[in-house]
Amino acid sequence: MADLEGNSAAKQFHPDVPAASFTHAIRGASNLDWGMQNRLARILDPQTGRTVMLAFDHGYFQGPTSGLERIDLNIAPLAAQADALMCTRGALRTSIPPATQAGLVLRASGGPSILKDLSDEYTAMAMQDAVRVNADAVAVQVFVGGVHESRSIRNLTTLVDEGYAAGIPVLGVTAVGKELVRDARYLGLATRIIAELGAQLVKTYYCDEGFEDVVAGCPVPVIMAGGKKLPELDALTMASRAVRAGAAGVDMGRNIFQSANPAAMMTAVRAVVHDDLDPAEAFELFRSASETTVSA
Ligand code: 5RP
Repeated sequence: MADLEGNSAAKQFHPDVPAASFTHAIRGASNLDWGMQNRLARILDPQTGRTVMLAFDHGYFQGPTSGLERIDLNIAPLAAQADALMCTRGALRTSIPPATQAGLVLRASGGPSILKDLSDEYTAMAMQDAVRVNADAVAVQVFVGGVHESRSIRNLTTLVDEGYAAGIPVLGVTAVGKELVRDARYLGLATRIIAELGAQLVKTYYCDEGFEDVVAGCPVPVIMAGGKKLPELDALTMASRAVRAGAAGVDMGRNIFQSANPAAMMTAVRAVVHDDLDPAEAFELFRSASETTVSA
């Protein structure tokens, strides 16, 4: 019970000042509940509306990946440079310090390993566990055009419904089968389906032609997937083109942790995403940060 003594009567109501209304920088989020918007704001930097998400959930289907042999050694030191981390609950609980301040996107689908058909996934985590570890979103693979397309959509919608109940957003990830073409037509189809079925965030690959239409046609933020390891300048160029075409940032794994200097690459990617630095300048940043790290 507040101490009543010295309690002064309220009198400053500023009747000439309209009530606060929060224009929303996050596409498609203005009608979401406060908790959902708060969690999205822990993933997408409110200043830029973009994210540098560090993906290291690869183990959920391919076991130990080059550069992820020891997540506690390879990844934990990079967490401070990431706006958000994308990982499995197993990697989180065993290898990431609970004091980590980055946003958290938990891998919530799984099933086949790389030895089988990757589209044969199910949901792989209860939403209650995402709540338990303070996740800011859960991630689910969606195999539009894949053998188990409908089941992957069902995985998505199950998590979306559970996410609404818990106030946790869902990141739908377009999984492009080997037989499918990563062009604007396919990516536009897949990202729109994911958004229409309720995901609050979409992750998809970049395409040289028409990516701006893929982004514009998707009513929620599109985050560019890093994909296979490229030379650093190529990865920075791809990230720059993607954000300049409207992507709400990047979710990179191999292009960070398989880089010659992951910390320097995080610095360079952040400069491209949040400061709109040209790729060539960001690459120079990468090189000088690499030299600094080596000499340290
Ligand atoms: C597959 C995934 C992976 O789990 C991972 O996130 C991919 O990261 P990257 O391609 O940047 O190494 O989402 O679609």
